[in-house]
Amino acid sequence: MQRLSVKEARLPEAIGQQVRLSGWVRTRRDSKGGFSFIEINDGSSLGNIQIIADGDLPNYESEIKHLSAGSSLTVEGEVKQSGGKGQATEIQAASIVMHGTADPESYPLQKKRHSFEKLREWAHLRPRTNTFGAVMRVRNRISRSIHDFFQGEDFLWVHTPIITASDCEGAGEMFRVSTLDPANPPKDDKGNIDYARDFFGRASYLTVSGQLEGEIYATALGKIYTFGPTFRAENSNTSRHLAEFWMVEPEVAFYDLTDNMELAERFLKRIVSDVMADCAEDMQFFQDRIDNTTFAKLEKVTEGKFQRVAYTDAIDILEKSGQEFEFPVAWGHDLQAEHERFLTEQHFESPVILYNYPATIKPFYMKVNDDAEPDRPTVRAMDVLTPGVGEIIGGSQREERLDVLEDRMRQQDLNLDDYWWYRELREFGTVPHSGFGLGLERMVQFVTGMANIRDVIPFPRTPGSAEF
Ligand code: 4AD
Ligand code: MG
Repeated sequence: MQRLSVKEARLPEAIGQQVRLSGWVRTRRDSKGGFSFIEINDGSSLGNIQIIADGDLPNYESEIKHLSAGSSLTVEGEVKQSGGKGQATEIQAASIVMHGTADPESYPLQKKRHSFEKLREWAHLRPRTNTFGAVMRVRNRISRSIHDFFQGEDFLWVHTPIITASDCEGAGEMFRVSTLDPANPPKDDKGNIDYARDFFGRASYLTVSGQLEGEIYATALGKIYTFGPTFRAENSNTSRHLAEFWMVEPEVAFYDLTDNMELAERFLKRIVSDVMADCAEDMQFFQDRIDNTTFAKLEKVTEGKFQRVAYTDAIDILEKSGQEFEFPVAWGHDLQAEHERFLTEQHFESPVILYNYPATIKPFYMKVNDDAEPDRPTVRAMDVLTPGVGEIIGGSQREERLDVLEDRMRQQDLNLDDYWWYRELREFGTVPHSGFGLGLERMVQFVTGMANIRDVIPFPRTPGSAEF
């Protein structure tokens, strides 16, 4: 007797085997002939498998005829060729053990389809739905592809800290771990100052990006990447922002901006082709049920080259577009979602890499372009924009010249002492280097066509949500 997953038992190769399967009931249908069809799912695939339970099973009347959506069971029996449409196999049950019932009166996931908004209230049950099962399998495949890609190119995975003292983006969007409020320090039961609860008396925060620590390792070991949770204390309630999200950040010594763009493009192509090859059933579901432009958008990634457009040229295109934008287009302003949409969905109809942004709208660490027009200083930034989601990657070549870096830090009112170790990387054996960050959830959104970022992460953290 072999234990199989539903996914395995659905394959024609399984026909003839004696197997044991476990899962949750999706539907039960009783036939007039005194037997029942039960469909179960165990999360291993989108598709269910049908069990045929004959009336002479000892618990047929007492249990099997009471199985309803959400109840759980283990079946033993033979895999048979199925006569039914859309399924290769089915299980002829020799025994069914029921583990738990689910009262149809109170179990929320009945046949009726619920909105994604409603399902967010049931973060503990929504993984049992088709959509969330498919999202989680694709999210997992993307995560694996990220590691496969970088490991295959000899990058080292570096575990950068979650608790940190440095503000990578210099935007003050960090959640504080320690309060360090001298007027009101945390106290223990005896009234003593409890430094353990205040990160040992050091100012510290949840990281917004592992980049700065990643640079330490890239400038010693060559090619590295980080992959982990990052945090942003921005109060944005949009379909593309989370307060806690996962980011993958490669950083490479001796790479310039062009090398960086090539890496980003190769990387995205690899993820998309892995998902298309290994998650075919789930991807067909997204194409049919969530967004029927999904396949066309993904094809633009795997085939052909990404458009590379200098920021200044993009502004030109937007100004000449004849579009009425809500936010005015002007050199020196950051692009808004509507501008990104126009470029990717209407003008180029493909992913676009925008580069050489105005220095004033980008963080201190980006390399200054010496050949920019004097009244329009730019830095070697690059953002990858995709149709539907907009920015999924942000990156740059880094400023490796200590004096230029320090000037930029002063311009942005940063305290140079806070970044003493980052400056020392430029003092001792400085090298050109580059890197970028891909937001995992934005990538999952792009690949699946899911409209809201809250629906591509198991437990979304947004302003005001932390029930689970
Ligand atoms: O553009 P960002 O802020 O860049 C950085 O953090 C750099 N330090 C990365 C680097 O060069 N190593 O963020 C990078 C990506 C964005 O393009 C976006 O995909 C995602 O992270 N991102 C978010 N995803 C969800 N919610 C948010 N609040 C996000 N902020 C950024
Ligand atoms: Mg960005």
